[in-house]
Amino acid sequence: MQSRNAPIGIFDSGIGGLTVANAILERMPNERIIYFGDTAHLPYGDKSAKAIQSYCSAITHFLIGKGCKMVVVACNTASAVAFKEVKKICGKEVLSENVIDPVVSHLADKMESKQIGIIGTKRTVSTRAYTKRIQKVYPDMISSELATPLLAPMIEEGFFNNKISQTIINSYLSRKTLEHIDTLILACTHYPLIQAEIRNYYQDKVRIIDSAGAVADAVKEQLTHKGLLQEATSKGNHEFYLSDFTSSFEETARIFFPGQPKLKEMNLWA
Ligand code: DGL
Repeated sequence: MQSRNAPIGIFDSGIGGLTVANAILERMPNERIIYFGDTAHLPYGDKSAKAIQSYCSAITHFLIGKGCKMVVVACNTASAVAFKEVKKICGKEVLSENVIDPVVSHLADKMESKQIGIIGTKRTVSTRAYTKRIQKVYPDMISSELATPLLAPMIEEGFFNNKISQTIINSYLSRKTLEHIDTLILACTHYPLIQAEIRNYYQDKVRIIDSAGAVADAVKEQLTHKGLLQEATSKGNHEFYLSDFTSSFEETARIFFPGQPKLKEMNLWA
């Protein structure tokens, strides 16, 4: 039996999942989170499905071992290729959520969207996870997916909001694949960090959707439904683990958690 006092486990290959962690804590400030950034294996987007599944399985076991009541896969690449495994490991006891389904459900509020562009890692795009789900639920929408593999490593390095990052972003967004879109899904949890630059490119002509808000709402809904929402404040006693310490992670973590989170290095594969 899970307790409402238990933490929520959240993981990503690096800092991207912090965008989701931040949205979760904005909506549920009493919750305590345990975050795992698998920086030793970043970027996930270039790895095989098999490798990603094995990383995700080790991280899920770790988070469950830490007593988490829920595991949130705050990474599109992992959600696309490893969510089944994560869900299986969580079993009936521990709740789980991915970052793709809540975003696709959320599209129902955006029915004026007709042509959806999706940008994500090579692995996410290769699975066509978004297009398959969109076609099932909204057969009239047209979707086109573009792999933008330079973006996650660039963001992870803290390299954004400068001329070069804007040039790389513009070069991807001007590709033919995205020519006629009216909506763009940021199908990588790193990308909200360059949202301003993406908006700058489109000048408000394209609707931008990131997963953080929709995922946080879905997490809240599951916890509420199971009576597992934390009522007393956790006093921000969050824990942050990295499989390999990087100073850029530390710097970006401070954008979201100005109190400077204590980062612990944890190599689950040693
Ligand atoms: N943040 C991850 C995602 O949402 C991926 C970045 C990576 O390639 O590791 O897909």
